[in-house]
Amino acid sequence: MKAGFYQFNPTFSKKDKNLKMVMSVLDGADLDLLVLPEFFATGYQFTSKDEVAELSEEIPDGSTTESLSKLSRKKGFYIVAGLPERDGDNFFNSAILTGPDGFMGVYRKTHLYFEEKLYFSPGDTGFKVWDTKIGRIGIMICFDWFFPESMRALALLGADIIGHPSNLVLPYCPYSMPVRCLENRVYAITANRIGEESRKEGQSLKFIGQSQIVSPEGKILIKASEEDEDLLVAEFDPEMARNKSLNSLNNIFDDRRPEMYFLNNNPPSPPFRKGGRGGD
Ligand code: ACM
Repeated sequence: MKAGFYQFNPTFSKKDKNLKMVMSVLDGADLDLLVLPEFFATGYQFTSKDEVAELSEEIPDGSTTESLSKLSRKKGFYIVAGLPERDGDNFFNSAILTGPDGFMGVYRKTHLYFEEKLYFSPGDTGFKVWDTKIGRIGIMICFDWFFPESMRALALLGADIIGHPSNLVLPYCPYSMPVRCLENRVYAITANRIGEESRKEGQSLKFIGQSQIVSPEGKILIKASEEDEDLLVAEFDPEMARNKSLNSLNNIFDDRRPEMYFLNNNPPSPPFRKGGRGGD
């Protein structure tokens, strides 16, 4: 299969312009799966709830979801893309999956980053995987990667490929994803953005680019630069992600010992573990 990402520099609040540009680039693309960045059509740095309300859309009835569904139907490929979602009085940092039959579903970001916490509700969908004609596609959004549980949950749910819409500002993700992919034996497509947003005094956000596709062996198949707009595509076999064996005696899923990890009940509280946020 051919999968890719489109790394570009959206202009804040210019939804029609951003969407039009993406649609015209994708219209000429020849692939099976395309991942777009987090908040790809709106920009990232919201400064008020009013702005969030103005730029968010219902899913699947909003214009962004409708446009991408239409494009997926026309071109016959799958798209994973991030957008702010309105659901009644709640707003979520969400990503949708569309395919040859149109809209397929939505994931709401579990781990909100920094000031996203001021404007969005924590996601309530949980991690989800869709069984498609090209393989099983799971979604996580940007900062979700920082929590190993995100990709582990998606891998345990059977994901072959993880679509990862992002607006990365910290430097760590590009060199960490190979390990995440290796330890879960999955493909990941991180679609980041480029450019800068300085909509808040003293809070300039520089997005780090470096979108990439990583294999279940932890190899970077293709990687974009820090600065340039790029549509990059790699060809790979999603079936590779179904083999969780390292040798005849080690299977990374069968060898897990969850009863030793305290994941399902609270671990004993060690005296050295301090709770709270910075400064506690
Ligand atoms: C992020 O989660 N947008 C850093």
